[in-house]
Amino acid sequence: MSSPKTKNSASRKLGQAVIEKIKEIYPDSQITEYDLATNKTAHLNEDHIEAFFTPAEIQTEAHRQSLIQSDRAIQDLVNADIIVIEAPMYNWSIPSTLKAYFDQIARAKITFQYVGEGLLPKGLLKDKKAYIVTSSGGIYSEGELKPYDFATNYVRFFLTLLGIEVVNVFRVEGQAIYGSENALVKAIENIDIGDH
Ligand SMILES: Cc1cc2nc3c(=O)[nH]c(=O)nc-3n(C[C@H](O)[C@H](O)[C@H](O)COP(=O)(O)O)c2cc1C
Repeated sequence: MSSPKTKNSASRKLGQAVIEKIKEIYPDSQITEYDLATNKTAHLNEDHIEAFFTPAEIQTEAHRQSLIQSDRAIQDLVNADIIVIEAPMYNWSIPSTLKAYFDQIARAKITFQYVGEGLLPKGLLKDKKAYIVTSSGGIYSEGELKPYDFATNYVRFFLTLLGIEVVNVFRVEGQAIYGSENALVKAIENIDIGDH
């Protein structure tokens, strides 16, 4: 979850509905939740960056401390088979809390690898599927605003670069046009988590 709203968040409601559908197929699944609005991920600072690029043998205590959150988030990601990312649209992009989380899980040689000059990095995560859940006042799946969907396009690109297969994107969109409730009902009706 990354909506700053803990009550009446469209992306949280749709995300929950997606998780319920996944649980119907995998009733024994264990769920690890990251609520990025209430449990904030640190913004990248100089210590993190130094630590990311310092070999373990020569890391200082400050480096080790600064890696705790990133290592934990990566371990949880490695343990996951299915990932549901809630990425509501705030000012044509994702909430900064989600970007902060992405900055902690993007680690060269751990979650992705540079494969050559000028080439896209290769993802090092394997056998993971993701669903992206978004919410917006406008409509971005088609029409005039489609080129300005910097939320789901970025999330899809980022997850793909880490090696995670994005299976589908679910949207509570057009809330400013249809009203939030109508848009949510329609979005929940259209959840299709695909073949397993
Ligand atoms: C500060 C703010 C910025 C927003 N920016 C956009 C935007 O750029 N485009 C859009 O279509 N809707 C925008 N909206 C509407 C939200 O996307 C919509 O309320 C959505 O439901 C937010 O997700 P949430 O309910 O899970 O928090 C914005 C809403 C707020 C409060």
